Amino acid sequence: MIQTGENSQTSRRLEQAQQDFDGPVHLSQPYPGAPPLWIEPTDTKLRTSIEAAAEWMSRNHDAIERALLSFGGVFWRGFPAAGTDDFIQLMERFEPYSKGYSGGTSDRKAIKGQAMEATRTPPHVYIQLHQEMSYMPSNPRALAFYCKQPSATGGETVLCDMRGLLEEIPQDLRRKFEEYGAEYVRNLRSADVDDFRARPELRHPSWQYRFETDDRDDVSSQLAERGAQCDWHDDGSLTFCTRTPAITVHPQTGDRLYFNQLNSQIQNTYTIGEEREALLQEHYDDTLNRPFAVRFGNGDPFTDEEYLIVHEIFEARKIVFPWQAGDIMLLENKLTAHGRHPFTGERDVQVMIFD
Ligand SMILES: [Fe+2]
Repeated sequence: MIQTGENSQTSRRLEQAQQDFDGPVHLSQPYPGAPPLWIEPTDTKLRTSIEAAAEWMSRNHDAIERALLSFGGVFWRGFPAAGTDDFIQLMERFEPYSKGYSGGTSDRKAIKGQAMEATRTPPHVYIQLHQEMSYMPSNPRALAFYCKQPSATGGETVLCDMRGLLEEIPQDLRRKFEEYGAEYVRNLRSADVDDFRARPELRHPSWQYRFETDDRDDVSSQLAERGAQCDWHDDGSLTFCTRTPAITVHPQTGDRLYFNQLNSQIQNTYTIGEEREALLQEHYDDTLNRPFAVRFGNGDPFTDEEYLIVHEIFEARKIVFPWQAGDIMLLENKLTAHGRHPFTGERDVQVMIFD
């Protein structure tokens, strides 16, 4: 049988994984040429005993690490993960991300140990494809999601294979990413000041809430440690800013990869809708005072037109990934981007980030 380049690469990867993994599991790659490697247990013990599953995970740790690099992600369905404790136990061989999530943009709180809520971003919001904390000078190597409860409708995690994406960006725009890098500006209000930003519909969080402290020095030192510049204002609010390259070379695979969040953090009518954009325009005199702002690292705007070019490339490569309760997915953070579709109902997806 003659195979196309992509098909033969897909089957080579799968053959390699079949050699690497040990035990009663079935391996497949449901989205040819794209993440993740899909793993299902084929015997009752592995399906029902958390001890057996944890032992299998530990024994296959090296194979999981290799698959993470070759597929960009690994997915487990049918393993007995009934709650956060099981999720933590199954992921115990992975090193927690030492810097934690301080300064992160998503509204999420710890659940237990290293496990966090995936996000409190409202259900109607489409969280665009992004690589975790790529707006920070340091960021996690990998992240794992665990679905405790899928939403009634929507709520799929979306994935994007980042290998080859950069090359699809037109050369002029690619050069801007390469030369200028990216800048992210965040403003957090003070919980002690009752100004317009305290209006709930603006969703302008306070630094006290986000950093879980009232101590400015503590916040400043956490941000300095993360490589962010801090600016405290007379009204008690805090602006902090990070500037990073927009492209990275993968330390193991050598792939040159798009690695920034200009397209996922930009606030415009396409990303936040006309109504919210009008609300923000009405209240903020400068886009840089808003809760989020992005631009190129040289101060040039990342325009709506440029956003649309990148957005369409991401959307054309997007994989829509529906959850079932008990599913776990591990992603290599540089090789695979993730996002979330809007949803209805209760959705409980938890996350851990790893070094
Ligand atoms: Fe994320």
